[in-house]
Amino acid sequence: MNAAGPLLAPFALRPLTPRLGAEISGLDLAAGVSPEVFGAIYDAFLRFQVLLFPPCELPPAAQVAFARQFGEVQVHVMSMYHADGHPELYRLSNLDDRGRPNGRHPDKGTLAWHTDGSWQRVTGQATIIYGELVPETGGETHFCDMYGAYERLEPAWKKRIAGLRAVHNLDFSRTRRHGTDLMTEAQRREAPPVEHPVVRVHPETGRASLFLGDHAEYIVGMPYDEGRALIEELNALAVHADLSYEHKWTPHELIVWDNRRLLHRATVYDPSSQGRVVRRCTVLGQVPVGKSA
Ligand SMILES: [Fe+2]
Repeated sequence: MNAAGPLLAPFALRPLTPRLGAEISGLDLAAGVSPEVFGAIYDAFLRFQVLLFPPCELPPAAQVAFARQFGEVQVHVMSMYHADGHPELYRLSNLDDRGRPNGRHPDKGTLAWHTDGSWQRVTGQATIIYGELVPETGGETHFCDMYGAYERLEPAWKKRIAGLRAVHNLDFSRTRRHGTDLMTEAQRREAPPVEHPVVRVHPETGRASLFLGDHAEYIVGMPYDEGRALIEELNALAVHADLSYEHKWTPHELIVWDNRRLLHRATVYDPSSQGRVVRRCTVLGQVPVGKSA
């Protein structure tokens, strides 16, 4: 999908890179958007993959209302992150109860390239994230286009992974990356491992993308270690600088992205000297469908 060319919309739109990302300005999200305006936002979402809205005061209820226009909003299994009386919102904060940085990163899993909700049968569609407090240095969010990642694979790679399915497992990625505050037995039962195609077809654009990331643990029907190695190799091959958008946050911005054809990650910051508070929600999408041979 080419980011160039005119787009008729009731807002101003500025592409962020030649490949993906656009800033949308001139809307009052807190006041709500009409179905007509939302339709134009959704067209831009499909076309640009990442939408950036400039700083605005966006109360939690308005964020949830905006998210609901995309679809059913996920209530995350890791309930300790629920925020502001809205179980749909998930707050990542490193502040203590007096508002000072506590030295602990709230979710180190976000530092590895991943796609939200790939550990569920119905995976994430849009993630909608609002920056309440952002660090001076680090704490950026990076996005990489997985349509392009798939297109750039050598034919031999495409042949090798055609029809493969990967098992995605939140317990695996959380334990591996976070180390503490692991999932409880009840949370594990609520979020058992699931399998998805390695090459996914976008349900709305029909385009194929690589669908792995950090929640992918092993390959169905392949020895565990061999599958792990294949996933690690593909995750590394998938990220290209010219297919990426790297966002340095300004407080009170809102970003929306499409998890069905992007990987994303946060970058490190110093949680002992700088505060970072973001609240996000993820809209449920579809059960991924693989590319037919
Ligand atoms: Fe994420």
